Amino acid sequence: MEFLQLNLSAPKASDVEIARYVVILLSLLVVPYLSILFGTTLLSLGLSWRGKTEEDAKFTRLSHDMADRLIGGFGVSSIMVLLPILTMGISFSQILYNTDSNIFQYFFLTFLIAIPALILTNMYKKSFETRDANPTGHYLLGLLALGGLKTTIWGFVSSVTIITFPEKWPLIQSLIPLTFDWNVVIRFLHFIVASLAITGAALLFFFFRWDDGLEDMDEGYRKYVRNFGGGVALGFAILQTLFYVWSIGTVPEFAKSMSLYGVGVGGMFVLFLTTFLLYKLLSEGNTSLVTPIFVLMLGFVLMSLVDDGVARDNALKYQHYALDQFNEKREAEVAAARAEQSGGAVLTGPEYGKTVYETYCIACHDFNNKLIGPSYMSVLPKYEGKLDELTEYIKNPVRVNPEEYPAPMMNTGWSDNDAKAAAEYLLDEYNKRK
Ligand code: HEC
Repeated sequence: MEFLQLNLSAPKASDVEIARYVVILLSLLVVPYLSILFGTTLLSLGLSWRGKTEEDAKFTRLSHDMADRLIGGFGVSSIMVLLPILTMGISFSQILYNTDSNIFQYFFLTFLIAIPALILTNMYKKSFETRDANPTGHYLLGLLALGGLKTTIWGFVSSVTIITFPEKWPLIQSLIPLTFDWNVVIRFLHFIVASLAITGAALLFFFFRWDDGLEDMDEGYRKYVRNFGGGVALGFAILQTLFYVWSIGTVPEFAKSMSLYGVGVGGMFVLFLTTFLLYKLLSEGNTSLVTPIFVLMLGFVLMSLVDDGVARDNALKYQHYALDQFNEKREAEVAAARAEQSGGAVLTGPEYGKTVYETYCIACHDFNNKLIGPSYMSVLPKYEGKLDELTEYIKNPVRVNPEEYPAPMMNTGWSDNDAKAAAEYLLDEYNKRK
């Protein structure tokens, strides 16, 4: 899908820095909001059905109250979901500039799936007005909304997950094969479990605290709502612990770091505290705890999103390094080198190539040792006597050995003339050393 490739110009290091924070902030809107939409639709649909089969008024009422109180209108949903997803797609395209990741496509497709999902969810909310007259329509809308939201979450999780796995970029060129990737499956299940825990906490907060709580709840109903919300939040918060550990454990080797584990432990602590308060709420019936519970639950979401960010930054170290390092220094250095050697004339030849090498390549390459890139002595044999081919590679690097180098080399700005000089120097030097 070529038309879904964004054609951005090379971002500066500062743009990438900003984009890295923007994606975390935006996911802080999308993740809790989408979680609550999904959790609420699922629970309220279940309660609605239960109210019908068991003819118990409290189920019927809670299903309606939940939808009313926790599902926002289409306008709010667009701001919380559609806009951020699109912006995240653009930000990630910037971060992954010049790679074969195709990332914008994933986010754009997720955006397209989200539109009908949000419309259906809103229609489901409205269908409570006509639930008695048209029960089939009500349940059908609920199921469709649920399917749409589930697909949106899956698209979102796939898009975000793939970024942490650079070795998969060239292999997976569309969303569909990602369904069968177990990294995505784990993270999808994690999202669903988290969404139920968050919804439980949100239910407590929006029924008992927000805007002075829900009016005219009698004692029996209050108690039921408290136990239902608290029970759901507690059960899924405990299950969440498992998924959280599992998600961190399955981050690829090169994306692991002390800060990943550090933030992870912090997240576990927050989750543990939330579980403890939920237990207190349930055993003592103390609804003054609902605000700290909801805030802590959001705090946990924030920490897990930051941890995702840390894993992503580790996985993209090479990418960030390449962009950061070269974007700003480059022009000044080259200009200085040129001025020193020539006083203005166009420089060529292996001697100038040595300057190019020392300016651009030395950070990643050595003749004898593997650094970020392979040692020249190991890759140059295949270019012996092939100056043009080598020049072409340096001008427009392509992916060669994805198993060892998750991200391909990229031309971070050297000119065609520089590439040729570097190629001459490399081959000269190779012949001397071999
Ligand atoms: C930011 C790090 C980085 C910089 C800077 C860099 N390279 Fe590379 N280079 C790599 C990586 C990583 C690979 C391996 C890519 C792959 O296998 O797909 C590579 C591979 C190569 C190869 C082997 C290609 C092959 O066919 O196996 C050559 C030759 C090369 N680089 C030359 C250069 C030259 C010349 C420069 C400077 C003008 C340069 N590189 C700058 C990271 C870098």
